[in-house]
Amino acid sequence: MGVYPIFRPLLFALDPETAHRGVSAALRTAARFPGFTAAERALFGYEHPALRLEIWGQAFTNPIGLAAGFDKDGTMIEPLLGLGFGSVEVGTVTPLPQPGNPRPRLFRLPQDEALINRMGFNNAGAEALARRLERLRGRAGPIGVNLGKNRETPLERAAEDYVRGMRAVYLHADYLAVNVSSPNTPGLRDLQDAASLQSLMAALHEARTAEERATGRRVPLLVKVSPDLDEAGLTAFTESVLETEADGLIVANTTLRREGLRSPQREEEGGLSGRPLFAVTLDRVGRLRQLTGGRMPLVAAGGVFGAEEAYALIRAGASLVQIYTALVYRGPGVVKAIKRGLVQLLQRDGFAAIADAVGTAGEPGSRSTH
Ligand code: FNR
Repeated sequence: MGVYPIFRPLLFALDPETAHRGVSAALRTAARFPGFTAAERALFGYEHPALRLEIWGQAFTNPIGLAAGFDKDGTMIEPLLGLGFGSVEVGTVTPLPQPGNPRPRLFRLPQDEALINRMGFNNAGAEALARRLERLRGRAGPIGVNLGKNRETPLERAAEDYVRGMRAVYLHADYLAVNVSSPNTPGLRDLQDAASLQSLMAALHEARTAEERATGRRVPLLVKVSPDLDEAGLTAFTESVLETEADGLIVANTTLRREGLRSPQREEEGGLSGRPLFAVTLDRVGRLRQLTGGRMPLVAAGGVFGAEEAYALIRAGASLVQIYTALVYRGPGVVKAIKRGLVQLLQRDGFAAIADAVGTAGEPGSRSTH
């Protein structure tokens, strides 16, 4: 883990959002120095042919991605890719800039290796993001853009916001994530209901068809789901997703559950991320693999801190695995550690590549995970 054990107490002495801003500013500044990305790659780089995979016709050097919310405005994409991520998802971005909720709105739960956030989609707006992405075009990737609605937009008009966001960034995104699962925008999660989701996806498909004609690119449309849907809700959600021919699912966003937490901050309002989420994520990925019959790639997020967790999610059905909270608790070296560990686990079980392991946990006579 390098020097992070020294830095972490310094960062943890700061308010969490101040620490995040400090780290972000440091990364942006460092990235301006020629040779910084090369230095990063020397320190954090780790590539292996077994980690490479292709999804939606796009090449990923490895399955470990950065989850949405860390780089909402896409200001650190290159230095983040330099840490060894195979993909970076920026956003959530809304059509208009908005400040988000009042601070404090991000809390550490150290005893639980978790965070609670109620950021509320603070971001500089889709146009500003599009301008940044334009400068990176062809140099970095794959880059996903996570789309949301402005807080002030009534729920009945939510589709217009997602469509506006899509149009603004379409040319520069390698995939789009429809965020209907953040707990911090009132009513947003209601968009997961069958009827709402179908009309939202219909609007997005129509807009995408127009964009595809204009640009010659078909950008995959993913839906990010909440881990809090119950069995019936998850089944209805999946049916709608399959009917609307989404290209993939991101499983999952933060949770409102609070069971089993020990840290004093556990009663804060907002979405919980990190370690306590892992069991739920694993369960949901397995269920969604069954419900979708492997017809669309799944992207897993929630509580991944090491290779064992990433591997379990891949075997349960995930093609990509995203992390956020582990970066706060483990530092940037965690990406390389997960990748190295994954290669060992693949080799142990006789898989030549990630794609061969995806979904094998649910197969009859599947190789044991020891
Ligand atoms: C998030 N997450 C998130 N997700 C999203 O779709 N849009 C967003 O804007 C944000 N913002 C955000 C802020 C903060 C501070 C955190 C901690 C998380 C959720 C994130 O992408 C991921 O789904 C969860 O955090 C679960 O993964 P980890 O953190 O347990 O690895």
